[in-house]
Amino acid sequence: MTNKSELYQELRAQLTSLLKGEPDAIANAANTAALLYHSMPDVNWVGFYFLKGSDLVLGPFQGKPACVRIPLGKGVCGIAGEGRESIVVPDVNAFPGHIACDAASRSELVVPLLKHGALWGVLDLDSPMLGRFDQADRAGCESLAQIYMESLKE
Ligand code: SME
Repeated sequence: MTNKSELYQELRAQLTSLLKGEPDAIANAANTAALLYHSMPDVNWVGFYFLKGSDLVLGPFQGKPACVRIPLGKGVCGIAGEGRESIVVPDVNAFPGHIACDAASRSELVVPLLKHGALWGVLDLDSPMLGRFDQADRAGCESLAQIYMESLKE
């Protein structure tokens, strides 16, 4: 059983090679979501929301169909986006304003995607396990989000 730091090290290497030479935001988000969904234990949804005006709009994801549009400041995604800070939610039912998309989700991690310091979107991960995400997941997913954002530079 590999530990989290080994898992994220491996995922960083895989993601870097998967996105190499391709700057397309949709294609790279689709492959990032697929890699994470199929490599991380105990996740039931992994995907992207992109900032359009003052809403986060659903992008490529893996998992059940999800809410399409989340206004900034609403839900875990909108709060993490507005504050430009990752949020770890150990128990979604104890988070006021959480937006339930898949009833199976029990915990969540949202990482903002920033371009030159400005909000560009968020990476959202859901788990059917309470307390699935910790600070190691937060740091690991932030490093993966950074690889994704770097890939968009031509
Ligand atoms: N739970 C999120 C909504 C998106 S879904 O989990 C895919 C939120 O509260 O923002």
